[in-house]
Amino acid sequence: MLSVTAHGATIPALGFGVFRMSDAEVERVIPAALEAGFRHFDTAQIYQNEAALGRALEAAGTQRDDLFLTTKVWVDNYSVDKFAASVDESLDKLKTGHVDLLLLHWPADKVSIADQIEMLNTVKAAGKTRFVGVSNQNIAQMRESARLSSTPIVTNQVEIHPYLPQHALVAAAKASGVPITAYYGMADGAVPKDQLLQQIGAKYGKNAAQVGLRWLIEQGHIALSKTANPERVKENIAIFDFNLDEADMAAIASLARPDGRIVSPPGLAPEWDV
Ligand SMILES: NC(=O)c1ccc[n+]([C@@H]2O[C@H](COP(=O)([O-])OP(=O)(O)OC[C@H]3O[C@@H](n4cnc5c(N)ncnc54)[C@H](OP(=O)(O)O)[C@@H]3O)[C@@H](O)[C@H]2O)c1
Repeated sequence: MLSVTAHGATIPALGFGVFRMSDAEVERVIPAALEAGFRHFDTAQIYQNEAALGRALEAAGTQRDDLFLTTKVWVDNYSVDKFAASVDESLDKLKTGHVDLLLLHWPADKVSIADQIEMLNTVKAAGKTRFVGVSNQNIAQMRESARLSSTPIVTNQVEIHPYLPQHALVAAAKASGVPITAYYGMADGAVPKDQLLQQIGAKYGKNAAQVGLRWLIEQGHIALSKTANPERVKENIAIFDFNLDEADMAAIASLARPDGRIVSPPGLAPEWDV
């Protein structure tokens, strides 16, 4: 699989996300995801399925070194007494001594970015993660994180799909040397039903979901794909045997909408860049 490399990290360009999946769904779909070729898995403390993911990966007999595991520290754990302990709990659940990438899940508004980064750097120095990153940060926060962190910020994981391409954030991330990981690539189910994406896909024997994921990869982003359906797992990874041309990319750009953002929880989300 194609990878995105930055600051010594080699991140498989397509990851398998497990948000909004029950333990049973995780344990059923992970063998299919491994079989299809996924090695990059994305979870979070708040998803409450780190233990199921750990069990499923162990049951499949995967070599830890072959995997790229990401988890995210939840905002309630942004304090010196809770942060490292919460990461230890995540590692226990994931049955590993370290994750590959540890993210601050949301900037929230109660703890300064400087304090969040210091706690993240402390657990990195303790060997609990190979790389660190952030999620849902706006441009100012991302720049502040990159400036303050003693270890490189290897991603900002944010919502991106054809209805919300996030041009300003993407340009700023590039300038700061921070790769983007795109979540909600299916725009919560809208992308697979999009007629324009279906038409473009028909030229290549691909469906709209595959065009949406390929559109993310064409821009150099790391893309996350979630499905609880083993048939769709195979579909979603079959995006490395075709390219979108300039005309396709221009047509997809026309789908961007000012109200394209789906995820913006009050108290967690920052002031977004326009
Ligand atoms: N950092 C953050 O704050 C944050 C927030 C949200 C998500 N994420 C990460 O990003 C990952 C992906 O986001 P998401 O799952 O929330 O949203 P998404 O990628 O937009 O997916 C939404 C829905 O699309 C469906 N789908 C997937 N592949 C499909 C296909 N080929 N055809 C038709 N439908 C398809 C899935 O339903 P089925 O399961 O029924 O197939 C899924 O529930 C998450 O699992 C998580 O790891 C991070």
